[in-house]
Amino acid sequence: MRTAYFLLFLAGIILSCSQKNHQKTNADQKIDSLIELMTLDEKIGQLIQENGGTGHDDKIKNGLVGSILNVPDTKTVNRLQHLAVDSSRLGIPILFARDVIHGFKTIFPIPLGMAATFNPELVKRSAEIASVEAASAGIRWTFSPMTDVCRDPRWGRIAEGFGEDPLVHACMGVAMVKGYQGSDLAKKGSIAACAKHFAAYGAAEGGRDYNTASVPENVLRDIYLPPFKACAEEGVASFMTAFNEINGIPASGNRFLLKQILQKEWNYDGVVVSDWESIPQMQTHGYTSNLKESAFEAFDAGLNMEMNSKAYAEHLPQLIEEGKIELKQLDEAVRRIVKLKYLLGLFDDPYTNPENYPALLSDEHKKIAGQLAVQSIVLLKNSNSILPLDNKTTKIAVVGPLADSPHDQMGTWVFDGNKYDVITPLMSLRECFGEKNVFYAPGMEISRTKTTVGFPDAIKAAKMADCILLFLGEESILSGESHCRADISLPGVQEELINEIAKVNKPVVAVIMAGRPLTFENIMDKLDAVLYAWHPGTMGGPAIADIITGRENPSGKLPVTFPRHVGQIPIYYNHKNTGKPASDETWERLDDIPAEASQLSIGNTSHYLDYGFEPWFPFGFGLSYTSFRYFEIGMGSKEIVLGDSVIISANLENSGKYPGTEVVQLYIRDIAGSRTRPVKELQAFERIHLMPGETRKVRFAIHTNQLGFYNQDMEYVTEPGDFKAWIGGNSNADLEVSFTIK
Ligand code: GLC
Repeated sequence: MRTAYFLLFLAGIILSCSQKNHQKTNADQKIDSLIELMTLDEKIGQLIQENGGTGHDDKIKNGLVGSILNVPDTKTVNRLQHLAVDSSRLGIPILFARDVIHGFKTIFPIPLGMAATFNPELVKRSAEIASVEAASAGIRWTFSPMTDVCRDPRWGRIAEGFGEDPLVHACMGVAMVKGYQGSDLAKKGSIAACAKHFAAYGAAEGGRDYNTASVPENVLRDIYLPPFKACAEEGVASFMTAFNEINGIPASGNRFLLKQILQKEWNYDGVVVSDWESIPQMQTHGYTSNLKESAFEAFDAGLNMEMNSKAYAEHLPQLIEEGKIELKQLDEAVRRIVKLKYLLGLFDDPYTNPENYPALLSDEHKKIAGQLAVQSIVLLKNSNSILPLDNKTTKIAVVGPLADSPHDQMGTWVFDGNKYDVITPLMSLRECFGEKNVFYAPGMEISRTKTTVGFPDAIKAAKMADCILLFLGEESILSGESHCRADISLPGVQEELINEIAKVNKPVVAVIMAGRPLTFENIMDKLDAVLYAWHPGTMGGPAIADIITGRENPSGKLPVTFPRHVGQIPIYYNHKNTGKPASDETWERLDDIPAEASQLSIGNTSHYLDYGFEPWFPFGFGLSYTSFRYFEIGMGSKEIVLGDSVIISANLENSGKYPGTEVVQLYIRDIAGSRTRPVKELQAFERIHLMPGETRKVRFAIHTNQLGFYNQDMEYVTEPGDFKAWIGGNSNADLEVSFTIK
C-alpha cells in the first residue's frame, strides 16, 4: 500500500512539475529563445533606462535601450516604439515609464492625504483611474506606490507616502499595486507598479532628504520593510532602490536588502530599478572609488536596470569580459525585464491609441477624485460647532494665499496634471454661497509672502462677512523631493494674517493645504475651526465646499502625528515606553517651575521642559460634525492559543445629529517581549457609516501571527504573554481590554 501511495505522490510531483514547466514554457520559452539570440550589447541594452523623448534614436535602432522615462506625448512614444520594433535587429519593444504618483491628468489628493481616508478601496480606484489615463498616453510603468514609512514631517517626501504607520502603508501600497496592475498586466489600461524607495528612505537623519539612515535590523524588519513585503506578496512588478545608505551601505549596492531580503527571503522575481543616477552616487557616498566599481556593486547586488546614468552601459561589457559578472547573472536581469514587457503584452501590442481608452478627466474620474478629497479632509477643531455653515444665509470672506491657487492645490509630483483643470475653493464657494455673498481677498500673494501690504483688503473683506474662511498652508514646492523644512510652521506672514483677521471679531475657519503636518498651536486659539486638506488635487474646491456647507461630513483621520513643536520630532504613536515614561502627574510645565528649583525637585521622566511629551494631535485623530460613542469592548476568549485569532469587538454609536463615518481603529500592545515592544500598534481599521442614533458592533479578528516581531535571533515570533487592546477613534483610544496568548 505504501508503495502505491509513494508512486501516486511521485506521479503528482512529476505532473505538477510538468504542468508548472508547461506553464513556464508558455512564457519563458519565448523569452529563453529570445535571450539566446541576443548579443552581449543587446542584453546590456535592456538594462538601460534613458530619459526624455529625444537623442536616443540611434541607440534604439541598435537595441541598446530597454526603457525610457518621461516621454511627454503619445506621438513620440509611438514614434520611438516603431523605431525599436521595426528598426532594431530583434524588435524588442521599449517600456515607457513615468512618475504617476497620485493621478495622471485627474489629480487625486497627495498620497499622505489619501492615507487620511483610511479607505484602501477608494485609493485602489484612484490607481485604476491613474493607470488607464497614463496607459492611454503610452505609459506602461509607473514609479508608484512610495511605501516609505516616515516619522519625521521635516522630510519633504512625507507628502508622497502614507505616513508613520506600517499597516496603513502596507494597506495603501497594496491597494495602489492592485489598482495599477489589475488582474492582468496585459489588459488594456493596466500598468506595472513599482514599490519604492527600497529601503528606509524615510528614516533620513534630521528629515533631510537623501541623508544617512542608520536603522537597526530589527527596526528595519519591524517598521520599514513590512509595506514593501506586502507589495512583493501582492505581486508588484518592480522595486526601486533608494538614494540613501542604510547603515553604511547605499541601497543601490546593498546585498542585505537586494539579495538576502528581496531575493532569498521574499523570493522576489520582478524588476529592480535604480533611482535616478543612484548607481554612480555610490561613489559620492564614498562606497566605491569609480564608476566601474559602482556598476559592479549594483549589478552584483541584484539591481537590474539603471535609470538615466551610464555605469552599466560603460562598464558591464568589461566586467563580463573579466568574469567579475557572470553571463548567467546578466541573462537573469535581462529575463526579468523582457518578461515584464511580455506580461504587459508589449510584444503583441506595443503601440498606443488614446482613442481606445476612456476620456481623460471624465466625470467618473473627477467624481472619484472628489470623493477621495472629501474623505481625506481632517476636521481638527470645530468650536461651538461653527461648521457647517448655512450657504443660504451666510456671507463669507474668503482670504489667504491658497484659496485660489490651482497649481499648489495639486501638490507635489504632478507632471501631467493641468492647473486649468483644477477647481479651487474660491470657485466652488462662489457657486455655493452666491457671488454676492463671497468677499475674496488673498491677503498674501503666495504662502511665503513676507509683506503685509495685502492685509487691508483682507480685513475689509472680513468686515463685510459673517464668517471668515482662511486658506493657509504651504505652496506645493515646499514639499516633495529634497524640499525639506527645518521649521514646519506656517510660512511667510500667515500667523500675522490670522492675528489681524481675528481682530475683526468674527468666526474664523481655517482650511490648511500642506504636504506635511504643520505646527501652529500657538495661534490655534484665534481659529474657531480647522480643516486639514493636505493638497487635495483637481477636485479640492468642491470637496472643501461640500464639507464647509455640510453636504459632506468630514471623516478623515491623521495618518501621521502632529507635533506641538518641531523640536519634539521624532514623535510618533507606536513609540516605546522607556524606563521612565512621563505622565501628566510627573510633568511640570516650564512656567510652573519655581525659581531656584532644586535639581531633583521636578522629577526625572522622558519629556521636554517646554513642550512636554505629548503631540499636538495624535495619529488617527479626526473629528466629525456628529459625535461617536464607543462602549462595551469585548473579546471572544481572554486566553488565546498561539496560532489562533483573537476576537475583539466594541459597540459604536452615532450619538450626534448628523449621519457620519468613523474610522474605527484597533490598537494592541504586547506588554513584555524579548525585545521591548511599542506602547501600541495599529492592527486593524474600518470605516463605519452610521445614521444619528444608530449603533453597530464592530468586530476584529487578529491572528496571533500578526502580533509578532523580530527577536534577538532575528526570527519573526509572536511570544506568549499578556497583551492589551484598545478600540477607538484615534491612537489615544481608552476603551481597553486585556488578554493572554498561551
Ligand atoms: C526621482 C525620485 C524617484 C522618481 C525618479 C524618476 O529622483 O527619487 O522617486 O521615480 O527620480 O523621476
